[in-house]
Amino acid sequence: MPLDPQRFLDDLHKLRSFGASGVGKGVVRQAYSDADIAARKWLAGRMQEAGLEPYFDPLGNLFGLTGENSLLVGSHSDSQPEGGWLDGALGVIAGLEIARAAREAGGPPVSCVSFQDEEGRFGVLTGSDVWTGKLAIEEADGFSDTQGNTLAGMRARMADLAGDFLPHGRFSGFLEMHIEQGPYLEETGLAIGVVTDIVGIRDMRITFEGRQNHAGTTPMHLRRDAFQALSAFNTMLNSRFENVVAPATVWTIGHVVLHPNASSVVPGRAEFSVQWRDADAGRLARMEEIIAETAQEIAAGHGVAVQLGPVMGIEPAAMDAGFQAELAEAAQALAPGKWQRMPSGALHDAANLATVMPAGMLFVPSIGGISHAFDEDTDEADLVLGLQVLDRAARALAG
Ligand code: GLV
Ligand code: MN
Ligand code: MN
Repeated sequence: MPLDPQRFLDDLHKLRSFGASGVGKGVVRQAYSDADIAARKWLAGRMQEAGLEPYFDPLGNLFGLTGENSLLVGSHSDSQPEGGWLDGALGVIAGLEIARAAREAGGPPVSCVSFQDEEGRFGVLTGSDVWTGKLAIEEADGFSDTQGNTLAGMRARMADLAGDFLPHGRFSGFLEMHIEQGPYLEETGLAIGVVTDIVGIRDMRITFEGRQNHAGTTPMHLRRDAFQALSAFNTMLNSRFENVVAPATVWTIGHVVLHPNASSVVPGRAEFSVQWRDADAGRLARMEEIIAETAQEIAAGHGVAVQLGPVMGIEPAAMDAGFQAELAEAAQALAPGKWQRMPSGALHDAANLATVMPAGMLFVPSIGGISHAFDEDTDEADLVLGLQVLDRAARALAG
C-alpha cells in the first residue's frame, strides 16, 4: 500500500486536538502535561493499530517499533507553552505514516518515534539528550521547570507505561521532517529544504539579587534595583556582542521573573534566561565568557549580587552526507527546482541522534516564518509534498 496523505493529515489534525488552545490552530501541550500524556497514549494506540509495537522508555519517549533493525523516523509531540500545531507534531505523524505504509507494503522496516521534552521545559532536548547518553538521567531528574516542578516528579506521571531504554543499535539511522520555522523557503519560493547542519545552542539562568524597598521613599542613589541591573546588562551585552557575532548568530532573553513584581516596590530580584545560538562552537564559548564578565561587572556597578546558573547546550551538528544525498535525490525527483540545501537555526532531536547514528532532516516552509506561536502554519500541499519526499528517501535508506 502506498502512503495515504489524507490519513496523514487526519492524524495530524487529531493530534492538534490534544491541548488545542482555542486560538487559531495553536496548541498548549508541554511535556508531561495532561494533554501531552493523553496525546502520547493516543499515538501509542495508532501505532498499535498499524501493527507497530508501542514502547515508552523511562523519559516518556514513545517508539513505534518494527523488526529487529529498522530506520527510525520521527520528531517530538510536546509543545512550547504557546505552541503551533506543526512544530514536532508534523515529524511525528510523518514518521507514523511512513512506518505504517511501509508495514502495509511488507517492508522495508521503518520504526517511528515521538521524543519527550524537545521543547526544553526541563533541559534543552531532554528526551533525546538522555536517550543518546549526553545527559545522565540522575542529573536530569534534578532539573526544574520555571514553576519549580522537577523532571523526576513529572516523569513519574508516566512511570506505569515505561520500559527500559532501548539500545541505539536497533536503529540504522534517523530521519526527521520539520517545518522550517523561519522565512527562507517561503521568501525564495521553495518547497523543500535539505538540512546540512543544525546550529549549537547555550542556555543559562542568571539572577541579580538587589534590595527590595519602597518605590516612593528610597532615593535613587540608595537603590540596589535588580531590574535596573538587568536592563543595563542587556544594553551592555548587545554592544559587546557587536564585535563577536556573525550575521546568523542569535541571542535571546526570553524568560524574566521580577520579584515581587509590583509597581510600588523597587525590585529585589531579577531571574532571567540568556540563550545564544551559532554554528561555531568557538563563538558560543566566547559569547559565554562575555555574558559572565558583563553580568559580574554590571552587578558590581549596581550594588547587586549575581548568580550564574549552569550552562546547558547542544553542540553544532552536521547531518550525515549519505542521508543528505538521499534526501536531495528524493527532493529533485518530486520537487525539481523547488528545493535547496540549508542549515537549521532551530534545534532538533536530530542533532542529538547524529552523535549515535547517521541522521538527516527535511524542512517544509513556514507561512510568514512564524513558529513558537499559536499562528504557526504551513499549506497542506507543502506538508504532503514533504511527506512524499521523506518517504522516498526513507524507503531507499531503510531498504
Ligand atoms: C526548538 O524548539 C528550538 O528552540 O529550536
Ligand atoms: Mn520542533
Ligand atoms: Mn520548537
